[in-house]
Amino acid sequence: MSSQPYWIARKGSALQGTLDIPGDKSVSHRAVMFAALADGVSHIDGFLEGEDTRATANIFAQMGVRFETPTPSRRIVHGVGVDGLQAPQGELDCGNAGTGMRLLAGLLAAQPFGSTLVGDESLTKRPMRRVTGPLALMGARIDTQDDGTPPLHIHGGQPLQGIHYELPVASAQVKSAVLLAGLYAQGDTTVVEPHPTRDYTERMLRAFGVEIDFEPGKARLRGGQRLRATDISVPADFSSSAFFIVAASIIPGSEVRLRSVGLNPRRTGLLTALRMMGADITEENHAEHGGEAVADLVVRYAPLKGTEIPVDVVPDMIDEFPALFVAAAAAQGQTVVRGAAELRVKESDRLAAMATGLRTLGLRVDETEDGATIFGGPLGSGTIESHGDHRISMAFAIAGQLSTGEVRINDVANVATSFPGFDTLANGAGFGLSARS
Ligand code: S3P
Repeated sequence: MSSQPYWIARKGSALQGTLDIPGDKSVSHRAVMFAALADGVSHIDGFLEGEDTRATANIFAQMGVRFETPTPSRRIVHGVGVDGLQAPQGELDCGNAGTGMRLLAGLLAAQPFGSTLVGDESLTKRPMRRVTGPLALMGARIDTQDDGTPPLHIHGGQPLQGIHYELPVASAQVKSAVLLAGLYAQGDTTVVEPHPTRDYTERMLRAFGVEIDFEPGKARLRGGQRLRATDISVPADFSSSAFFIVAASIIPGSEVRLRSVGLNPRRTGLLTALRMMGADITEENHAEHGGEAVADLVVRYAPLKGTEIPVDVVPDMIDEFPALFVAAAAAQGQTVVRGAAELRVKESDRLAAMATGLRTLGLRVDETEDGATIFGGPLGSGTIESHGDHRISMAFAIAGQLSTGEVRINDVANVATSFPGFDTLANGAGFGLSARS
């Protein structure tokens, strides 16, 4: 028996209420990084108090940046300027965060000092050549393990050259790493993507006063620019909201309102997919929150039908497949996912983890190299391995709401990386979820 925390999920009631979902993880990471590099004092409002984003803030504190936390979810950041970071003592621990490690690789490659980035068991298995490759083309020196995984030993003091880089895979993390190195490089740096990805780095650099040209799928900046402190308001995280969007869609009688959710179009592919399946999701109170579109999402139960997820929507819902698989399980008929091989290199192999877990609960799931076909049907009981992946844990917490029995979900501690308080919020809305260890 493991002593790891686990959950028991079983049928609760129809979901009701108005929910405030914690701040966006991608935006919070970037807000801390750019505020640390800016000249002057920045305020961040709505900061995600998750382990991943706190790890990023700790890393900057280790490099001499001062943070104040006047109240939870707020940070006052005393920026040190692009040339003001100090050599850290010891390793820099990114925890579970691929975003933290990959963006920092670009930034630290350009510093005059050396540094070492480490992470937890999951992050230590993740591919880093996708960032070290283009950074090496710019003149950076970064050592990985022989198989391209962390730790990353970054040799500082290398002059960097701007590049024109065509990304082989659509990745906002790789794009951002190259752009951050490009800030310190000689000349222009251009990144071209095979499919547009989330553009928070581009938008936020502009908010910090950097001149950057960007359009969907392409970004270009000139090296040698400084950042000017600004205030950032972080919207509610769409990916965390996704678990409640799916849960309310599939639990009969549910109706929830999720307040001020970030609706950056590069994040909301799940809405397209669920609407194709027949979901009842309306958007109200459209507004702009720190330069990002937000709206309240009102989600009501609706019977779903299986569908084929269009391949070009996949990058816009890349973090939402664990939740989508549960919607597919509850839908009538088959749901087909293709073109999603990236899911194999996330916090876990999400195609395998979801397929295995749903099969444990009695469903038929045919897995392929880059996707799966999920055959909707009744869910039974069983024990699920989350592989320490926050989103796998939360997805099966939803599955448990439709189970005829109990679903045990192992190793749920990492839910705190992205969604601290998920179980409390979920139970308040109607879930049957108990935390044990
Ligand atoms: C992120 C980019 C995506 C996403 C991750 C956050 C970001 O990763 O899956 O959760 O903040 O840039 P990739 O760049 O690997 O697609």
